[in-house]
Amino acid sequence: MDLAWWQDCVVYQIYPRSFQDSNNDGIGDLQGIIQRLDYIKSLGVDAIWLNPIFTSPMADFGYDISDYRDIDPIFGSMADVDLLIEKAHEYSLKVIFDLVLNHTSNKHPWFLESRKSKDSKKADYYIWNDTVPNNWKGAFGGRGWTFDKQRGQFYFHSFLPQQPDLNWRNPATVDSIFGEVRFWLEKGVDGFRLDVINSIVKDESFRDNPKAFGHRPRPYDMQRHIFDRNRPESHSKVKMLRKLVDTFPDRMLVGEIMVENPGEPELAASYLGKTGEELNLSFDFSLITTSFSAQKWQRCAKRWYEAVGMHRTPTWVMNNHDVSRSISRFSNNEQKARLATFFQLTQRGAIFLYYGEELGLRDSFVYRKDMQDPLGRRYWPFYRGRDAQRGPMVWSVGANHGFSESDPWLPFTKHANRYTVENQELEPDSMLSFYRSLIELRSHEPALRQGMCVFQEQQNTSLIVYTRSLDETQFLVLVNFSSKMQSVSFGEFGLRSSDSEEIFSTTSNSKQPRFSYENINLDGYEGVLLRINKLNI
Ligand code: NOJ
Repeated sequence: MDLAWWQDCVVYQIYPRSFQDSNNDGIGDLQGIIQRLDYIKSLGVDAIWLNPIFTSPMADFGYDISDYRDIDPIFGSMADVDLLIEKAHEYSLKVIFDLVLNHTSNKHPWFLESRKSKDSKKADYYIWNDTVPNNWKGAFGGRGWTFDKQRGQFYFHSFLPQQPDLNWRNPATVDSIFGEVRFWLEKGVDGFRLDVINSIVKDESFRDNPKAFGHRPRPYDMQRHIFDRNRPESHSKVKMLRKLVDTFPDRMLVGEIMVENPGEPELAASYLGKTGEELNLSFDFSLITTSFSAQKWQRCAKRWYEAVGMHRTPTWVMNNHDVSRSISRFSNNEQKARLATFFQLTQRGAIFLYYGEELGLRDSFVYRKDMQDPLGRRYWPFYRGRDAQRGPMVWSVGANHGFSESDPWLPFTKHANRYTVENQELEPDSMLSFYRSLIELRSHEPALRQGMCVFQEQQNTSLIVYTRSLDETQFLVLVNFSSKMQSVSFGEFGLRSSDSEEIFSTTSNSKQPRFSYENINLDGYEGVLLRINKLNI
């Protein structure tokens, strides 16, 4: 099967502020990433995705862009980004940028022009109204409408007031946005992660969102967002964007789809288009929001596969800059974290990893006085914001852990010395070694990357069991979500022990003999990959 690179890639997400500081101001930058390309390559990943690096007042740490065509001086210069793209390509790493096309900064020249008056050249670039026309809210708190004195009208913002939403119903706005996208395509960027791409088009007549049932802490979540996002027209806009991107060879769009709580994989899949003519990939966050349970995770994965279908590509993600790190969600249980990664990396499709997870890096603890994230500042102490999962990378032992010579902009995780790359490189059983060997295994086995996944129904509710098959190759994957040893009979799958060979286990020192009589034995929280030499499952 000849697949495009993005159909079975492993992407490494970098939060540039926290990866590597090259000029010792305590904030990571592009030269820092260039310095660490060797390390990134050594993980075996295929691509890097950088959170926004464009010029920004940083009200939402780069998700408020004031110039799409330049790099924020905190991160470096245009020359640095050109060099990064060039060097990454020398390492055969694809480069994905984060594009925020739903909104800009309120300091963007388009907004400065738009707010001048109702007759300004860019009057309709944003969403303006004489009054507050409806109940739409900002996801970061408060009303979604803010009064602008200069123009004498209210403008709509899905997030902070400093992030006015662009008006995608205005063809001139769309032309301008596409101009910015084309600029980066011409520079050789391989793909874009599109921020909240299902929010871009709003209801033309500004109808009220209906109430949602149940109780959720954020007033924003007490509405069904049917009029301020997911309008049918957003699909046609995404199609147009895809057409533009496809005029360049081998490029890719992956979209963040905001969903109601809990996840809606069908919605995420709908943005791929019926025949794959919209986004190349979209994120489903169900495994992040679903508690650690074999039955629940199997249900999520099946639902996502079904929503996507065999003709399109699913993505698998456990971590990103918006959610508490998986190992912290698992109460620092490293076995659970390994198991989750094993489950993730043995699925078909595209894998997204987040810097530091390969070290088992925990959330940082951030005191109220040091809090940076606008969300944390607003909702503390009910919600501590997203700083915790954005802590600096730990490269080595000692002061500032090789991240910087100055104090970092956010604190390191506690006991950071335990997680350093320096130490973990020396230990064959470290989390880092585990990630490297699993990624390597995946990269050499087309059946793991592209093969069909079939879940095997069986009695034991602590286990997920599935096959991954392509042509003559077949793997049987067993994942034990319980802390207790579990045995499964080969007979359940019509096999004998001599039909299989162990290829990988998440536990390097299993206490059980793997095979006894006709059983496969798994330790607590162990995942095992077997190669099946007889094609009969
Ligand atoms: C989603 C991004 O992932 C998040 O970090 C950001 O704050 C919002 N979109 C607003 O752009």
